[in-house]
Amino acid sequence: MALERTFSIIKPDATRRNLTGAINAKFEEAGLRIVAQKRIHLTKAQAGVFYAVHAERPFYDELCDFMASAPIVCQVLEGENAITKNREVMGATNPADAAPGTIRAEFAQCVGENSVHGSDAPETAAEEIAYFFSGLELVG
Ligand code: CMP
Repeated sequence: MALERTFSIIKPDATRRNLTGAINAKFEEAGLRIVAQKRIHLTKAQAGVFYAVHAERPFYDELCDFMASAPIVCQVLEGENAITKNREVMGATNPADAAPGTIRAEFAQCVGENSVHGSDAPETAAEEIAYFFSGLELVG
């Protein structure tokens, strides 16, 4: 399988608790390479555009407030089968359902504050990477 890229966010609950390094270690141990990374603080409007697919869900407003509540670390992860591999490393969306050893099992606080986001398909990975990074920032 060819190298693939996926988009990742280390969320405000994790940056607040100084967990960026611990989470990055999980990615690197799984063979995912961090080929781009930056720490930014989203506005609520920017978070709303990123999560627009969830605009009709009851948790959308709370989700956007949370994502704008503290800095996030946005990343591009590269590796074989990176999208699926990252989803395995993250664990289930709800930490109560996440397998032992996954990021969400170890670090997430609840379904809304679940420490990480990862793309779910090649098309969304491409869109999400393009929302946060220019081609010049993807250094490999
Ligand atoms: P993420 O993978 O970033 O994609 C959408 C996010 O919505 C998800 O992680 C959760 O953090 C959040 N989410 C999903 N379900 C709920 C819920 N029931 N209540 C609050 N937030 C949720």
